[in-house]
Amino acid sequence: MTLIRSSSSIPDGVSGPSPVTMLRDLSLASAAPAALRAAIQIGVADEIADAPVGVERLAAALKVNAAVLVRLLRNLRCYGVFAETEGGIVHTPVSRLLRSDAATSLRSWVLWVTEPWAWQLWPDLEQAVRSGRGAFEDTYGRDFFTHLHKEWPESTEIFNQSQTELSRLTSAALAATLDLSEIKTFADVGGGRGYTLATLLEANPHLHGTLVDLPAAVMHPDPRLHPDGTLASRSRVMEGDCLQEVPVEADVYLFKSILEWDDEKTVTALRNAARAGRPGSRVLVVTNLIDDSPEIRYATGIDLLFLLNTNGKRHTRTGVTRLVEKAGLRLDGVSPAGQLLHVIETTVPG
Ligand SMILES: C[S@@+](CC[C@H](N)C(=O)[O-])C[C@H]1O[C@@H](n2cnc3c(N)ncnc32)[C@H](O)[C@@H]1O
Repeated sequence: MTLIRSSSSIPDGVSGPSPVTMLRDLSLASAAPAALRAAIQIGVADEIADAPVGVERLAAALKVNAAVLVRLLRNLRCYGVFAETEGGIVHTPVSRLLRSDAATSLRSWVLWVTEPWAWQLWPDLEQAVRSGRGAFEDTYGRDFFTHLHKEWPESTEIFNQSQTELSRLTSAALAATLDLSEIKTFADVGGGRGYTLATLLEANPHLHGTLVDLPAAVMHPDPRLHPDGTLASRSRVMEGDCLQEVPVEADVYLFKSILEWDDEKTVTALRNAARAGRPGSRVLVVTNLIDDSPEIRYATGIDLLFLLNTNGKRHTRTGVTRLVEKAGLRLDGVSPAGQLLHVIETTVPG
């Protein structure tokens, strides 16, 4: 005789995950980015094409331990990353984004936010909440970007690639949002490798544009901006530190996803753009506003990472408009640019 009651006589409580389950899941959620990173590094996504692949075969091709690969994939599958069919492991729409050849690949972005330095920063969160500041500069003796470029060249490369990946998701919407038909000269400050600038120049065949960023970013610009690239005759690539000076006069200055550092730095960079321009020049801040984000878990998570690396933040609408006004710019409006970004439009006053 069995000691086990039939399941129909056991109360099953409420439907959906219980608070206990939710909290236990959450407290081990860091296993997921670790598993994503490992999957990328061993090359799982690139190894799976359109047909299902058995785990043993996959492990042999990747030269990894099959039993542990099963466990890794079991965790990732809980989040919709890869799926299992009778024939073996297959891609899902999410896991396809880990492929290096995906048109909207987020491979480098996942690597970037799971870099070893990022894991090392998370325990500083408690102290940041107590003190109100991220302690990166105290710990490493210099600001995040200077340290990144000097000490972590591989991570710098991943960062620059990750920013291009993110720009691929948003640049078309930005180009559709901005009416640059009357604008002659455009400067993308902190524009990374220039994917966004190249998209805007392609969408506006009359426009001339300058990419300004730190040496480590502009060293390998978007191929379209190269001296032999398709946009060479209408573009310039310049090294520049916008905290010292914005080294170009333009009708429009763009700061896209760069002013998410210390508020003081934001005001300095905006003032430097106003100084480089003339009365009537426009300064556009393009960012993902945290109080208007459809991806609130992502936005709040990256907000905390910014706190720990650049002592920065994801801005609220009020927060960013206050900063542009503090920099002496006239606020003209805030408009969405696609689903993920907002444009804070300002003018250099007369
Ligand atoms: C988050 S990325 C955004 C890149 C690009 N605007 C985009 O949206 O893809 C921030 C950029 O700011 C650049 N940056 C950081 N400090 C800078 C400075 N002092 N002067 C100019 N650019 C800077 C970084 O090199 C990086 O390319």
